[in-house]
Amino acid sequence: MIDIDHLTVQFGGVKPINDLSVRLESPVVGLIGPNGAGKTTLLNVLSGFVTPVSGTVRVDDHRLTGVPAHRRAALGLRRTFQTDQIADDLTLWQNVQAIADHAGYPNAAEANAAVAQAIDYVGLTRRLHRRGSALSTAERHLAEIAKALIGRPRLVMLDEPGAGLSESESTHLEQVIRGIPAHCGAQVFLIDHDVELISACCDTTMVLDFGRLLAMGPTAQVLAQPEVRRAYLGDFETLEAAA
Ligand SMILES: Nc1ncnc2c1ncn2[C@@H]1O[C@H](COP(=O)(O)OP(=O)(O)OP(=O)(O)O)[C@@H](O)[C@H]1O
Ligand SMILES: [Mg+2]
Repeated sequence: MIDIDHLTVQFGGVKPINDLSVRLESPVVGLIGPNGAGKTTLLNVLSGFVTPVSGTVRVDDHRLTGVPAHRRAALGLRRTFQTDQIADDLTLWQNVQAIADHAGYPNAAEANAAVAQAIDYVGLTRRLHRRGSALSTAERHLAEIAKALIGRPRLVMLDEPGAGLSESESTHLEQVIRGIPAHCGAQVFLIDHDVELISACCDTTMVLDFGRLLAMGPTAQVLAQPEVRRAYLGDFETLEAAA
């Protein structure tokens, strides 16, 4: 559960998060909003990269304010980045193993088993020894998710994993994301502009509109709200054309 209470983030004169309060309880929560709405900033607050000027965030009753990023990782907070962090000159296995090396496994055998399991879960076992530079966009996004599943994740935050994927790649990604709570017990917080991916994955969705909560609730209901449709008109036309 993510509990955000009166959260404000300020960069100079800009408040990308402005007195935001919301409680997110469902297993897969979506976060949508126009470019610059504050979505990544909210993830940065949760993962400890950005310090708010006021307010608190809690995850499963752990108060995160003032807790450094490495401690949050130990608490099971995981995130992917809008620009993937896959090392081009390492193999897929090495990329994921680098995370396992710091995840506190008691020995190398257990760490290796976790690496193999995470890569298998995202469906990339056939790419184990391929270098990062030779992975496709979709494979890099999946590799990022595999990294986020290492250790004992409590909350997996994904920043636009659907960007730049084909339809069949999105369908696979959808299955991977939806299955995460059952696979490892973690809650998922998914940012994406692809409303089809959000609809398919998320029980609950929140909409940020320049730092404020525009809507929040069951995904289908939220996406049907007129003010949300206005903010997403282009995406909905695409969605309806595809239906
Ligand atoms: N480190 C920073 N310093 C100054 N301003 C920032 C910083 N990070 C973000 N911003 C500003 O905060 C606002 C929100 O940015 P954010 O990246 O959270 O948006 P977003 O919803 O993730 O957008 P997108 O969909 O384009 O990824 C923007 O106006 C952005 O320019
Ligand atoms: Mg962003």
